[in-house]
Amino acid sequence: MQVPKVLEIKEVFEESKTVKTFIFNWNMDQKESLPKPGQFMMLWNFEDEKPMSISSIDPVKSELGISIKTVGEFTKNVHKLKKGDKLGIRGPYGKGFEIKGSKILAVGGGIGMAPIASFVDYSRLMGLKIDVISASLTLDELLFVKRMKKSGANVLTCTDDGTCGFQGFATDRVEELLNENSYDMIVTCGPELMMKCIMDMAEKYQIPTQFSMERWMKCAMGICGQCCVDDTGWRVCVEGPVFWSHEINLIKEFGKYRRDSSGSRNYY
Ligand SMILES: Cc1cc2nc3c(=O)[nH]c(=O)nc-3n(C[C@H](O)[C@H](O)[C@H](O)COP(=O)(O)OP(=O)(O)OC[C@H]3O[C@@H](n4cnc5c(N)ncnc54)[C@H](O)[C@@H]3O)c2cc1C
Ligand code: FES
Repeated sequence: MQVPKVLEIKEVFEESKTVKTFIFNWNMDQKESLPKPGQFMMLWNFEDEKPMSISSIDPVKSELGISIKTVGEFTKNVHKLKKGDKLGIRGPYGKGFEIKGSKILAVGGGIGMAPIASFVDYSRLMGLKIDVISASLTLDELLFVKRMKKSGANVLTCTDDGTCGFQGFATDRVEELLNENSYDMIVTCGPELMMKCIMDMAEKYQIPTQFSMERWMKCAMGICGQCCVDDTGWRVCVEGPVFWSHEINLIKEFGKYRRDSSGSRNYY
């Protein structure tokens, strides 16, 4: 679906001081409009358009959730909207997460928990065992913990300041878990330096891993080339945003830099 559908906001949930989830009715009857965890939508507020992951999918109620963190003008303006207000949505776009094996470790940092949460719901529906690390700077910013516990996932919280769960970086907790358990697969989304560290650990422990990557998006349809990544020419909006370890290994800019809207490199 390439033309935005203008939809009423059905519900708004405050997940934290900086994150709100917006619920929409979404027709899931056709295969091409059935969203998958890890895919994203383009959200249009009639002024600008931005990529947002799908944070919940309810095929029974035909509801789609998008969770948005306030960072700049677009996200601040969307946060002002209420139930009944309208937004344009097109998608779903990109490749979602795949399932390999039956024991999974999912790691989400900050708003990176959005696609991870919908993947956790899906995995539990499939009857898989899943340990989830939900990581944030502090307790107030932890996302989707109740919801994921309710789904039967083993949720492990991790905060930089130690206000909830493990004190320290998510990657330190990942290392502990990899020492104590065996997993068939890891999925992760969050700050790229966190994911780069997980990539190195996954290689050491030989665990297939999927990474959800962010790059500046304009068309989201593979046409404009804005989201191309160096060395491969892959478009994150089409070949990604989810990449397997063997693919991410070929993306030389991963964990080093990303391009802004003008194409200039911004180093981490
Ligand atoms: C595939 C994908 C999925 C995403 N999922 C979510 C999500 O579920 N929830 C969420 O809150 N955010 C998500 N983001 C990030 C979100 O798109 C940006 O936070 C948003 O565009 C910021 O816009 P702004 O005007 O508020 O802030 P700005 O001040 O304009 O930008 C702040 C930062 O956001 C990023 N950004 C801005 N515009 C774009 C763009 N067109 N494409 C990609 N990145 C951009 C850049 O890193 C920029 O430095 C996702 C990004 C991508 C690429
Ligand atoms: S955003 Fe245009 S090719 Fe990906």
